[in-house]
Amino acid sequence: MPRVIFHDVDGQRIEADAPVGNTIMEAALDNDVAGILAECGGACACATCHAYVTDAWLPRLPTLEEMEDAMLDTAAERRPNSRLMCQIELTPELDGLEVFVARNES
Ligand code: FES
Repeated sequence: MPRVIFHDVDGQRIEADAPVGNTIMEAALDNDVAGILAECGGACACATCHAYVTDAWLPRLPTLEEMEDAMLDTAAERRPNSRLMCQIELTPELDGLEVFVARNES
């Protein structure tokens, strides 16, 4: 199983093993990562699964689609390395992915 390294909003580092095919958002919820609220359940309709991807990993992620891009515009403190964790599915190639959870508010 690929491993995702989360840095949650409280500054805690959490290493989570998660099945291929799950989203990063699901991996975060399964591992109680603080700050990933996922209020819309992964429908790309809330931006409360917003996180910042480290520079090394950003180019290795699937392309940012129009819908995710538009939703990220509603997120507080969008940055060039912002992504929505419900829009990224885990693959074996993403083993070691490292993300910093944004200050998501409901
Ligand atoms: Fe709502 Fe990702 S969970 S946009």
